[in-house]
Amino acid sequence: MTGPILFTPLDLRGVRFKNRIVVSPMCQYQAVEGAIQDWHMAHHGRFALGGVGACVIEATGVTRDGRITPGCTGLYDDAHIPGMRAIAALYRRFGAACGVQIGHAGRKASTARPWDGAGPLEPGGPEPAWETIAPSALPHRPDWPAPRAMEAADFERVREGFADATRRALAAGLDFVEIHGAHGYLLHTFFSPLSNRREDAYGGDLEGRMRFVLEITEIVRSVWPADKPVFYRASAVDGTEGGITLDDTIALARALKAKGVDVIDCSSGGILTGVALAGAGSKPAPGHQVPLAGGVRRGADVATMAVGLIVDPHQAEAILEAGEADLIALGRELMADPNWPFHAAQALGVEDADGVLPEPYAFYLRRRGRVSLDPRDPPWPQRT
Ligand SMILES: Cc1cc2nc3c(=O)[nH]c(=O)nc-3n(C[C@H](O)[C@H](O)[C@H](O)COP(=O)(O)O)c2cc1C
Repeated sequence: MTGPILFTPLDLRGVRFKNRIVVSPMCQYQAVEGAIQDWHMAHHGRFALGGVGACVIEATGVTRDGRITPGCTGLYDDAHIPGMRAIAALYRRFGAACGVQIGHAGRKASTARPWDGAGPLEPGGPEPAWETIAPSALPHRPDWPAPRAMEAADFERVREGFADATRRALAAGLDFVEIHGAHGYLLHTFFSPLSNRREDAYGGDLEGRMRFVLEITEIVRSVWPADKPVFYRASAVDGTEGGITLDDTIALARALKAKGVDVIDCSSGGILTGVALAGAGSKPAPGHQVPLAGGVRRGADVATMAVGLIVDPHQAEAILEAGEADLIALGRELMADPNWPFHAAQALGVEDADGVLPEPYAFYLRRRGRVSLDPRDPPWPQRT
């Protein structure tokens, strides 16, 4: 009998994902000048011990001004390498692969942490605002400061930022990189007609709006070794009239695949709207973005990662079985239950589900599994 696909390894280039469960990138806003802190180690330790197959470390600025908030991680300085190396080593110690999401926040940079309102920083505030850049001088929201439309020198700085950040990710021993092309940040604003009004080669039709995205991908791929995978996170649809459609993203995914991208991580939204996290005004349904991953997978013949309110192990298995995705990313569900992989293995009837956890836990849980935990059963025998 073959086991669930969720627990079947996946080989991408020279990297083995021991199972299909991936920690979705999640900003922690706890970095100091871009550097990893104890918080990050504790945060990732929970997932590494819980048995995930891989992790994508949070959105990490390729330049200092490319960070979303002053608390975001960076790879814009060599001083950031040791922290990233420690996280990569932590996952490796427990047999999981570890990647980092590299990006530039564009016109959504220079903002406050979510719990401080996520609005633009004030110029004279304790964490002062900085200038933002974007393809066109259109603000993210009407009441936000307008970004500066990028000029030749800005393009060059962003290109260099991605190249250097990729080099540093490699020096840190990471297994893969994910290019952040979603959620209204810089690369997404180039691709979306809602935010790109350029009249030069980097705007206009689909080809023009893809140009900078593909240039950056080419740079990352040229620095990143051929035996390690590159992921690309896309907002597969803008969900707004006149925005990106699934067909546009399929065209982009084909072009990305031709440039050496191995997995398209299919999210949505963020260009004018917020990212579709449940709890905001309109509540998305479980697995609401899964059809996007399926559409891209079939349309571009490329591996995909599905994400967004995937909470139930049977739901995750059904997504893989239906060929909608190759990997399953979980964010908040893993925050709620870092042992989700273990519980999923139990729910899906994996033989030796305890073995999903590292031996110092598995050893005791196997023994515990042999006794009844039902308080209505007769008292346990005293240990002699
Ligand atoms: C605290 C938090 C931080 C996030 N940070 C990022 C990020 O750095 N990069 C990104 O692409 N998405 C980010 N997201 C979105 C998640 O990766 C994921 O796509 C989203 O939460 C939906 O998945 P879920 O329903 O399993 O949480 C974040 C989400 C949360 C809750």
